[in-house]
Amino acid sequence: MEQNQTVTVLQAQEYHAAPLVCHVFVLVLCLSSAEDFDWTKNDHGSFYYGTFPAGFSWGAGSSAYQTEGAWDKDGKGLSIWDVFSHKKGKIQQNDTGDSSCEGYHKIKDDVGLMKELKLNHYRFSISWPRLIPTGIKSDHINEKGIQYYNELIDHLLENKITPIVTLYHWDLPQFLQERYGGWQNISMVNHFNEFANLCFERFGNRIKYWMTFNNPWSVAVEGYETGEHAPGLRLRGTGAYKAAHHIIKAHAKVWHTYDTQWRAKQKGLVGISLSGHWGEPVDISNQKDIEAAERYVQFYLGWFATPIFHGDYPQEKSYIKGTCDFLGVGHFTTRYITQKNHPSARSSSSYFTDRDLAELVDPRWPDPGSEWLYSVPWGFRRLLNFVKSQYGNPMIYVTENGVSEKIQCTELCDDWRIQYFKDYTNEMLKAIKDGVNVKGYTAWSLLDKFEWDEGYSERFGLYYVDFRNKNKPRYPKASVQFYKRIISSNGFPNQREVENWRRKAVETCSTSNQLLAADPLTSHMEMVTEIVVPTVCTLSILLSAVFLMFLLRRRN
Ligand code: BGC
Repeated sequence: MEQNQTVTVLQAQEYHAAPLVCHVFVLVLCLSSAEDFDWTKNDHGSFYYGTFPAGFSWGAGSSAYQTEGAWDKDGKGLSIWDVFSHKKGKIQQNDTGDSSCEGYHKIKDDVGLMKELKLNHYRFSISWPRLIPTGIKSDHINEKGIQYYNELIDHLLENKITPIVTLYHWDLPQFLQERYGGWQNISMVNHFNEFANLCFERFGNRIKYWMTFNNPWSVAVEGYETGEHAPGLRLRGTGAYKAAHHIIKAHAKVWHTYDTQWRAKQKGLVGISLSGHWGEPVDISNQKDIEAAERYVQFYLGWFATPIFHGDYPQEKSYIKGTCDFLGVGHFTTRYITQKNHPSARSSSSYFTDRDLAELVDPRWPDPGSEWLYSVPWGFRRLLNFVKSQYGNPMIYVTENGVSEKIQCTELCDDWRIQYFKDYTNEMLKAIKDGVNVKGYTAWSLLDKFEWDEGYSERFGLYYVDFRNKNKPRYPKASVQFYKRIISSNGFPNQREVENWRRKAVETCSTSNQLLAADPLTSHMEMVTEIVVPTVCTLSILLSAVFLMFLLRRRN
């Protein structure tokens, strides 16, 4: 680590959760016993030319609420995100996911884009209220929703793209929130299990990779503690912990259901997708900073992974331990961490004060899009090695990794995204050389889409979506060309070729840029057709009627 870097303080938080001290101790031992990876070295700058293991799976991802649109079509029930986004002031510009990318109506188009990229897999999520409108299976099953996912799955398979399915990417049926308090209530465990069981029953003959939850950290902390996400509750100090507790139980239950009822017949795998930033101690010679950085990672990923992999959890140890056939890892960024006591922790306890640390960033880190997203590729290798040493080298699928740009930029020549993907996938390759068992990588995301409380103001897509146009046309950004080359070479053959890819990618995007530049005209013309044509028709009818009356009067 660079010891004399300039850093900016982002947040100072407090920590007073005694039980976590033992996690920290375990982590210190594991980190120092890692065989292959030297935690004290920082060869940040070097690039590794080489290829990924044969059969490595390359993909791209999406989630139901972020892309499907059709929020009230064909019998779908309301989700907490439908209701939350319709409340004024919750989302940037009061955007909603009502129509989003219209993915519900564009299966063929989008699978076409995946083919263009030559993807091996596509990660998407199933909307619970689209299949079960109230969330309670005995109430009603919506066959039209089943039909939509059947078509998507079949179309992917026909095109030799492996579907990887997430069962819960944040869109809880609103009815369950209203009646029971959502993830604050233990009854979610059974309702979620019934929904998952329905998915195994209807889709399990074709789906071999299941993930129970996507980023439960966000569900718990942003949904029930800070209230930035649906359902928007601010239950400081208790909300996140309760939600996480029920989510862990629900995950374990669904894994057991698959294991006992479906595994023998369907031969699939059930995992969970956990997200986490990497936390690097500001001063690696300071024990307090080292412990604070460890706490940071434990409060993100370890919170869920430790009970699931080690069963280090009260009461249900053996039921929860070992309930993961593979681990999904979502990762975007890194922070420097230092120890910082929060003076008033006892009076205002919260998830954040419990951590007792401050997050810092290096102002030299590139931050092209989202406020929180700095490009720090070396943190990715560290996080992957952490997972290897902490959880017994599990099979890993990277489920989310990517970078955004701000909406003001309608630029398809996304050089910075090329750089991000190039450097992050290269660090993943180094991690594989370190012995980390990574089997696949999912670029986040296939399309620009609804970015939760940020609405459409941040774009993560490989494909640009023109949200102003009712048809939501997609345009390839330069990163499509670059990612496609990584996929077809299964890595980075040599410096000359990789530089060539980059040059070519940036060249071709100027043509797409021209197409996009012409688009406002097209969408404007559509608007003209929608407003002017009916108005002209109505006027013509009225005028004809007046003229007819005038003629009749004259005849009389
Ligand atoms: C979420 C995605 C989201 C991304 C960027 C992830 O944690 O799972 O749905 O698009 O963050 O905000």
